[in-house]
Amino acid sequence: MKKIAVLTGGGDAPGLNAAIRAVVTKSCRNGWQVMAVKNGWAGMVNGELSELPLESVEDIEMQGGTILGTSRTNPYKVENGPECVKETLKKFGIDALIAIGGEDTLGVAHKLTQEGVAIVAIPKTIDNDLSETEVCIGFDTAVTRAAESVEKLHTTAKSHSRALVVEIMGRHAGWITLYAGIAGGAHVILIPEVPFSIDEVARVVNERKANGKSYTIVAVSEGAKFSEQEKFATQTEELDSFGHVRLGGVAKVLAKEIEESTGVEARSVVLGHVQRSGPATAMDRVMATRLGASAVELVEKGEYGKMVSVKGGEITSVDVGLAVGKLKTVSPELYEMAKVFFG
Ligand code: F6P
Repeated sequence: MKKIAVLTGGGDAPGLNAAIRAVVTKSCRNGWQVMAVKNGWAGMVNGELSELPLESVEDIEMQGGTILGTSRTNPYKVENGPECVKETLKKFGIDALIAIGGEDTLGVAHKLTQEGVAIVAIPKTIDNDLSETEVCIGFDTAVTRAAESVEKLHTTAKSHSRALVVEIMGRHAGWITLYAGIAGGAHVILIPEVPFSIDEVARVVNERKANGKSYTIVAVSEGAKFSEQEKFATQTEELDSFGHVRLGGVAKVLAKEIEESTGVEARSVVLGHVQRSGPATAMDRVMATRLGASAVELVEKGEYGKMVSVKGGEITSVDVGLAVGKLKTVSPELYEMAKVFFG
């Protein structure tokens, strides 16, 4: 009987539980045993595994978060981390590991694969910035949540004749902001891929005012930068074990600048973790289910070092190294299309 371990790493995302349910259900129906790894790579380093029977995944596709727990632990930053991971696999008699995560988690999966560990990867990140896949688990839900908020903010902005600057997650990729900004009717959308100047934003606010629209909604990515500035707005300069700073604060700075340069009262709104909280959308649940089931098929065929991915709406697979080699960011063409609707 094959023994498969499954882990979720990095920031949690709606849809993870649907993927876990798919992995467990398909594996168990194949007569295999599935082990739950607690809190991502931390559980592999510390040997925290327990059985994940079929009954334990009943109805979990409707729950947000991850029943396995998650962490941002990087085994390559822990003393003897990779050796501990291999020791854990041996101790529990694991034949294959399914790692569900984003750039960081799957970057570790790629390195371990090169060291001979049998891993299949599943793409998950609300940021949607993994290469070689059109879709990552969690993105659709994050966009839906953020778009609802951007849309709702119109009524208060209009009532008070204010500019509202909404800060949206996504780290160094503007996918959530762009999609939520388009869907939620933002009048300006600012993303990390295209540095912006305060003059451009002020021009839109002033033009709207001149046209009798005294309110403006600005959707800004947490990783967006003023063209005059070198640095991102950060909550802390401290780096996590994957070398990332915690972004945040750009909306507050921008709201102040808008108020000063246009005279329009401005406020900032930080959507924060609500974007990845709560149950997944139906689209995320279905996509996560398809990706989870396909990952088990790759294990069945012994195709390790691969990530299941979505291309042209179909599930396929790619080398995990290709997915993590380069961030997938918003193209200039797509941003230009969105700019037509500014103002
Ligand atoms: O990568 C997902 C993400 O939600 C980013 O959009 C955001 O910058 C980061 O995680 C927040 O991390 P944490 O949950 O550690 O605060």
